Parts: sequence; C-alpha cells; structure tokens
Amino acid sequence: MFDEERVRRDFPLLWRKVHAKPLVYLDNASTTQKPQAVIDAITNYYTHHNANIHRGVHQLSDESTQLWNQARAVVAGFFGAEEDELILTRNTTESMNGIAYGWADHNLTKGDVILVSYMDHHSNLVVWQEAAKRTGAKVVFVNLTAEGEVDLHDLKEKLAEGNVKLLTLTYVSNTLGSVCPLQEIITLVDEQAKKGKIKPRIVVDGAQAAGHLPVDFSRLGVDFFSASGHKMLGPMGSGLLLVRKEILESGEMRPYFFGGGMIAAVSVEGTEFSSSLSDRFTPGTPDVASAVGLEAACNYLSALGMEAVLEHDQDLVAYALEQLQQIPEVELVGPLSVGSGSQLRRIGSVAFLYKGVHAHDVAQVLDSEGVAVRSGHHCTMPLHVYNDWVATTRASFQVYNTREEIDALVSALDKVKRIFKV
Ligand code: ALA
Repeated sequence: MFDEERVRRDFPLLWRKVHAKPLVYLDNASTTQKPQAVIDAITNYYTHHNANIHRGVHQLSDESTQLWNQARAVVAGFFGAEEDELILTRNTTESMNGIAYGWADHNLTKGDVILVSYMDHHSNLVVWQEAAKRTGAKVVFVNLTAEGEVDLHDLKEKLAEGNVKLLTLTYVSNTLGSVCPLQEIITLVDEQAKKGKIKPRIVVDGAQAAGHLPVDFSRLGVDFFSASGHKMLGPMGSGLLLVRKEILESGEMRPYFFGGGMIAAVSVEGTEFSSSLSDRFTPGTPDVASAVGLEAACNYLSALGMEAVLEHDQDLVAYALEQLQQIPEVELVGPLSVGSGSQLRRIGSVAFLYKGVHAHDVAQVLDSEGVAVRSGHHCTMPLHVYNDWVATTRASFQVYNTREEIDALVSALDKVKRIFKV
C-alpha cells in the first residue's frame, strides 16, 4: 500500500481547519479533493497555452489542440478504452443523458423494457424515466437482497421476459457501497441471448467505481460506461462516457448535441457529421483545461497504482464497518463485509442510520467536530423508500483518508449521543 501521509501532503485543501479543528473530509462520494498536480495542470494550461482547439493555425491553438488530444489519450488509456470510444462530458449525469438522447431515443420503442435496480442513483434513473416517456418504453426495477446487493434471481427472471432492451446498473452503490457483480450479470445476459432472447445493451454507472478500482473497458463486456472526473481527484465539470466503438461506428448511437466542431460539411440543405468519432460527439468549444486536469488526476492515480488504491479503500471500509458496528445506536446499511477479487462486495463508503436522531442532525454535530459527511437520501430516494429509511449518514473515502480519520468520526459520534441523550 502507499504512504497515506505522503499522499495527504499532495492535497492542499486537507491542510485547512474547519471550526478550529483539523478537517476530516469524508464526503468523497460527492466530490473529491484535488492534488496539487491537478491544480497545477489547470493553472499551467491557462497561464501558457489557452486557445481554442482545431480552429486556429497559430501556435497557441496548435499547443492547445495537442494538449486536448493528449488528455483524451491518457483518460481513455486509464480506463482501458480506445480514444475513439471516449466522449468527454461534464459529469456522469451528462454522460447518462448522452446515452438516453444519443442511443435510447433511436433504439427503444413501445413495449421495450429499461431495467434498473432499486439502488440506482437518480442520474441513472430520472434519465430513463424521461427516455421512457419519449419512446414508450417502460422502466422496471430489479429487487435487492437483504444486504443491499442486486438480487440475481430477480434479475434473471426479469431478463427472461425477453423484452429488456437496456440494462443499466450502478457499478458501486453511492449509498450502500455494494459492488455490482458485473461478470455474473453479463453471464446471465449471455445465457438469455443464447436462448434467442433479445440481448440488451448494458450501461454501467461507474461514478463511484472510477478512481476506486481498476477499470478495463476493453474487458468489462459492457456497452456504455459513465463516470465523473471530479469524483476521482479531477476538476469539477469533468466527466466521461465510454461507448463501444462499433455502436458509434455503426450509427446505432448518434450525436445528441449539435453545432460547430463536429461537422465534415454544412450547406443550406443539411449537415454531414465528422467522420472522426471524437469530433462527432464534441460540438462547440470543449473544456480543455478540465480535460488536462482530468489527465493529471489519471496520472496521479496511475502512479499510486489502482490495485493499491483498491487495497487502501477496502482497508478503510473494513475498518469503518468494524468500528461502527461497535456503536449500539448505529445501524449500518449495505453488505457487512468487503469481499475481495471476483467476490468484491463493498467499496468506497459506509452509510448508517443513527437510532433516534435524524441524519442531518448527526451530520451537523459531526461538522462541529471538523468531520465532513453527507446526510439525506444521497440522490437515491427509491432506495430509501424501498428500505423505509428517512435518511442516512454517509462517510466516504479516498486515497488520502486514514484509519485515524475513521477514529475521529467514531469519537464525533459520541458527541451525537451526548447531545441527543439517546
Ligand atoms: N452522487 C453524489 C453523491 O452520492 C452527489 O453524493
């Protein structure tokens, strides 16, 4: 594993205090802090290279174009994708909307089913409810097990109906921390296809997986993969969508934003789109600085090694589960073990209910001790209703978090007990 203390020195924001206490930042599933290397990459871009890409023959435009292309190559490589398979977006939500408008609107029709699960984030749900309204397709929910994992028996039954055209699941739940067993699910999909049933396209919401575990899109066996750069040490406003090349090349997915920069020729009669896949899906002036910042984040994580990042993450989650289970007022949600390898069960975060105290009150008391967590429904309202939870408190981790910070969380929870006299 890497040296956390050395890693912490790379993140200037972690040096500050809140309420005169050292900051314990445990809200990484919302957004992560940025290493100096990312901040420097953005500053360097604006200080020395800023110009619009592709559009100028001058030196700065050329440099900016090269930086954009290099950023795309590094980001695609980090995820094991080809450059042509990468569409840079602002966040996972924008990526999901891209699939909905660019693929679903042209490929779904009345009677088709979009299969999601009860643990999915609103960005992987509201988008499909709206796509269903436009296309006549229906959104169907897969059940969860008692420990908050996708119920594979229920999934199998729903696939067997033969009308599922799109299966869209979160890789790692932002509330439960549970890891979706993608390989088992792909096997189920393949079995259905062998029986002559429709083979659904598979979408993975990778927002809570990217920057926590190694992702190799070329071997994942899914059709679309979305992630947010800002949740993996990159800048706010950076995200990505990976689409299997054949889906783009065949025109099965079409451009969904239109304008300059994505065209081969425009006449009064109409427009021919660029044959370059990367240009075709990037109309308008792109956010080169964010792309360069995301490249720096990918390089930072690669230098730590994604296997080591995962090992560190699992250590923290296992430790947090162990410590929090000792507090009688705490009821943890999601799997109670982290698993490993192909049986990886849980990463990234721990969320819990605190007996007799609303999650927002818990979070406020924790904040007074310098501990930043998220409280509420975490954009998973159907999951909370499914389980009859009003709200949960969530601590979520990244490469710079330590066991000592989990101890600080546990101590701060003592204050909740004292104040609310539970
Ligand atoms: N999706 C983000 C979270 O879970 C905002 O906090």
